[in-house]
Amino acid sequence: MNRFSSLSVANSSLSHHVLKNRLVVAPMASQTATLEGMVTENTLKHYANLAQSQAGLVMVEYSFVDVSGKSEPNQLGVHDDACIEGIKAIAELIHQAGAKAGLQLTHCGGKAQLDVCPQLMAPSGITVPALDRVLPTPRAMTLNDINTWKRHFIEAAIRVEKAGFDYVELHCAHGYGLNQFLSPVTNQRDDQYGGCQHNRARLIIEIIEQIKQQTQLAIMIRVPGQDLYPHGLTQAQIVESCGYFIDAGVVILDISSGIGGWNRPKERRGEGYLVEESAYLKQAGLNACIIGVGGIETGEYIDHAIQHSWFDLAAVGRAILKGPQTFAEQVMNQAID
Ligand SMILES: Cc1cc2nc3c(=O)[nH]c(=O)nc-3n(C[C@H](O)[C@H](O)[C@H](O)COP(=O)(O)O)c2cc1C
Repeated sequence: MNRFSSLSVANSSLSHHVLKNRLVVAPMASQTATLEGMVTENTLKHYANLAQSQAGLVMVEYSFVDVSGKSEPNQLGVHDDACIEGIKAIAELIHQAGAKAGLQLTHCGGKAQLDVCPQLMAPSGITVPALDRVLPTPRAMTLNDINTWKRHFIEAAIRVEKAGFDYVELHCAHGYGLNQFLSPVTNQRDDQYGGCQHNRARLIIEIIEQIKQQTQLAIMIRVPGQDLYPHGLTQAQIVESCGYFIDAGVVILDISSGIGGWNRPKERRGEGYLVEESAYLKQAGLNACIIGVGGIETGEYIDHAIQHSWFDLAAVGRAILKGPQTFAEQVMNQAID
């Protein structure tokens, strides 16, 4: 097995679950949407460009499921049926390039500034720790807020399916809203959505179950390998949570970082700086395909990691963003000696 071998995503009989190779374009915010979250010509150009990487799966950036979950002014939205036409055009151009198309859903929860997100809310009203800034304190969510989030995620997934995507990913990493539910740092609720790890995972489990019931989409989840933050999510808690998510219907686990954001932790060096997290999940023997990410730049590294079972799929962000065609020529078109 290497980067060129196709991957049949387990757990489903749907034919669109075969990926032509093991490369994934990581979700990357393009900041090209209108202030209302609609796709622009620049958004289309951006994805037409990324699709030239020859990756088997191209992920579309974090897209807000409701305006209350928006964290950047020009963020892409899937909060309204009016968004379907624009994201459909993105899915079409990814398919034209021969790749499968996925879209990532997010709610920022307490991770945003008040000028973009005036009604900041989070599981327990605890300020979300961020490495590079101090965030405002959110209000604690009511059960009604939680039910409303659930509805927003499910409705957004239905739009993603109507737009022709193959995959939908729940963004439960990088300190955003669903990560805040999972993490003991930001979730100190004493109802059915807090307390033990199963309760902290409950909202995500319920969203997955409903997406599985109401759509034919393959469901992915981006989770931290751990929070890399004092008293945050541990690797064991992530393994436990991923077990619940797989039981609920997830077929791909995308392993990134948690509270604190996606940036490289200071002490991690070299190509594949987060891959030890995906390797930990691979060793846990979970019944799902596993994506590794973090500073991956070469075909040799991808082959080595697949051969050592550190991940099943390699997500590449910045090395593709820098030049998708160059990446394809250097990494995907390269013969293996
Ligand atoms: C410009 C940019 C935008 C990003 N936007 C997102 C995003 O929308 N969702 C997400 O989960 N990660 C996002 N990330 C993180 C990437 O998906 C990826 O995990 C990270 O860049 C590490 O991979 P790399 O070293 O190959 O770039 C973004 C990264 C960059 C550089």
